[in-house]
Amino acid sequence: MDASGSCGISSTPSSTRTYRAPGRVNIIGEHIDYLGGTVLPFACDLEVRITGSEADDVVLRSNDGDLEPYIAGVRRALQEAGHSVGGFRGEVTSSIPIGAGLSSSAALEVAIALALSGGADIEPDLLRRSEELASGVRGGVMDQTTVLRGRAGHALLLDCATGAIEYVPIPPSIGFVVVDTGTRRRLADGRYAQRRAEVEAGEPKRVRHASSEQRRVFEAAAVLRAGDLAALGALVSGSHASLRDDFEVSSPALDEAVAVVGAHEACAGARLVGAGFAGCVLAVVHAGTEEDVARMVRTRLPGSTAFKVKAVDAAGEVGPGNGRHPVV
Ligand code: GLA
Repeated sequence: MDASGSCGISSTPSSTRTYRAPGRVNIIGEHIDYLGGTVLPFACDLEVRITGSEADDVVLRSNDGDLEPYIAGVRRALQEAGHSVGGFRGEVTSSIPIGAGLSSSAALEVAIALALSGGADIEPDLLRRSEELASGVRGGVMDQTTVLRGRAGHALLLDCATGAIEYVPIPPSIGFVVVDTGTRRRLADGRYAQRRAEVEAGEPKRVRHASSEQRRVFEAAAVLRAGDLAALGALVSGSHASLRDDFEVSSPALDEAVAVVGAHEACAGARLVGAGFAGCVLAVVHAGTEEDVARMVRTRLPGSTAFKVKAVDAAGEVGPGNGRHPVV
């Protein structure tokens, strides 16, 4: 301590704050959230981070492209919902591949919303609205809910009609590997909206996917709880077949990745994850074999990446009270 009584550490709060928002892996229940269906995703250990400080204006830098539409969409949605919206200057980084089926945009929007609102408690539907404002795509509420409500070690059995969540523990015997084919789509390219319109108009093949997928979700939640990897794998593979043949949102690269990872003896089943058309495949495997499965896929599919994922907690401010509990 010096003569003035100070400890040499500033007693003013540090103004630097960091917010993180995880990506989303959907175990099963694809293209049914916007129909009011029940889905089974988890928040995964890939994330968007925003580090910076409150300011009079909003200046966010990123190496991953134009953030302006997202900032504008989040701002408007926050304002429409009556939140107070502040300024923030900072840096955005992300480990979530963009446009690959792992909710990179929902995570980005949640992180921006936390930064602009000073960490307010935000409703998932508000951010679904901001996605619509940012990209013009009317999606469901699965991604935003998972990013905002995820829980470590658990999947969310999420009723998208009511927003009700039942947390299903993921048994330690079950592991997950994501294969990123390296191919990319944009939701705004129209095919997502087209499929949604078709199923809403009652086209028989599209509806057949939606109803069979809904059945598989409830069965998957039951077998996940029971730790029955073989049964879970069969349902996941069934989901892929339905997305490929009835909903027609697969691609040659996704089908190939499903076949390659599915050939590993530790893999119980695999399917495309997210909206489809390109991006990633999710494989359910015996826990402990993830690195081996990922290595095999990387060797057999040059240009792809493969890695283990696990369920983590929802988005929030990082660190014990960054800026809120000053060290004195
Ligand atoms: C995207 C949308 C979600 C959901 C999935 C498909 O990720 O944002 O709302 O519709 O596609 O299940």
